[in-house]
Amino acid sequence: MEFQLGLFSPNTESGLAITTVPERWHATWDNNLRLAMLADRAGLDFLLPVARWIDWGPDTAFHRSALDPLVWASGLLAATQRLRVFSTVHTAFHHPVVAAKQLATLDQVGKGRAGLNIVAGWHAPEYAMFGLSLPSDHDTRYAYAQEWWDIVQRIWTSTAPFDHDGRFFHLRGVVGAPGPYDGNKVLTMNAGSSQQGRSFAARNADHAFTVVGGPEDGSDIVKTIKADAEALGRSVGVFTLGHVVCRPTRAEAEDRLAYYADAHADWPAVDEVMRLQGLHAQSFTPEMLRTYRGRFAAGHGSCPLVGTPDDVADALAGFADAGFDGIALSFLDYADELGYFAAEVLPRLAALGVRPSAAAPRPESDSP
Ligand SMILES: Cc1cc2nc3c(=O)[nH]c(=O)nc-3n(C[C@H](O)[C@H](O)[C@H](O)COP(=O)(O)O)c2cc1C
Repeated sequence: MEFQLGLFSPNTESGLAITTVPERWHATWDNNLRLAMLADRAGLDFLLPVARWIDWGPDTAFHRSALDPLVWASGLLAATQRLRVFSTVHTAFHHPVVAAKQLATLDQVGKGRAGLNIVAGWHAPEYAMFGLSLPSDHDTRYAYAQEWWDIVQRIWTSTAPFDHDGRFFHLRGVVGAPGPYDGNKVLTMNAGSSQQGRSFAARNADHAFTVVGGPEDGSDIVKTIKADAEALGRSVGVFTLGHVVCRPTRAEAEDRLAYYADAHADWPAVDEVMRLQGLHAQSFTPEMLRTYRGRFAAGHGSCPLVGTPDDVADALAGFADAGFDGIALSFLDYADELGYFAAEVLPRLAALGVRPSAAAPRPESDSP
């Protein structure tokens, strides 16, 4: 698989940057549409939204609003031609019969370009908002996610109505048509980090997303996840996350990072996000949560890709060399910065052999 590049979280206010600067990303529909069309023309591979139902508190704009991933993906799949658009779906909040139909419809809209990010859930206030409680043990969370996913797949592949009697669902006469486009399945990713989460990804996902410190610790994690999948006779692509600050000189890039992610970081929100992550999720190790305050301000704890186009291309090549199959990127202002990244970094990645060649230029046009 060629090393893939995507954009993470543009559907949420402020993206992944926990900052107060006015230049931060505003997740309006118009901005998302413009960004998706830019990304499609530039040859990026995917867009990945965050499913966020509740914000992080009254005193922060961070994730104050978030466009619904499924509805967002539908509009973007209709407006683009090449890239994959994932939807992020909480298994606990979307009935599998509804989700199967919504995802199949998305895949029809995108002619096979829909993707599903299965989220087992970790944020207790979101569960409370739905009148549910977050299961305290990971075994139950992922057992529920497994049964949910088994039902969705069975709906897509069944030719006759079926009954389902499991631990969590009792369903009668289940049907759902159409299935995904052209009889295929929807490409699936999962970002579980606990032992149960990783084994769910090894069993079910095409792509496993994982938070790492960098390529150094990442290479062992990649090997473990791939070995877990291979033991089950499957293969899984391993992806991680990074935030990009790319400027003509290193000093300019570092100044910009210091401006938005230090001098004007939204520190109360940073601390709240880190506190909640530590409570119920295992995405970040305790060591990361002790030391990554700056990385959370800059990009929700993701890896820094900061510097000149050469620096950023070299850093991305480091992840490819470590065995990663791709990375989901964030920018302070995605649409404003993507053009420079595409013009300067993509050709360097092609020259480094990380991606085969720059995408063929597409005509500039506002129509899809
Ligand atoms: C790339 C990535 C995307 C994620 N997207 C979401 C999301 O949109 N909504 C959400 O509630 N959790 C999201 N998560 C959290 C994971 O789904 C998962 O719950 C978390 O990593 C905790 O995993 P664990 O329950 O196995 O410890 C994401 C995590 C990563 C690394």
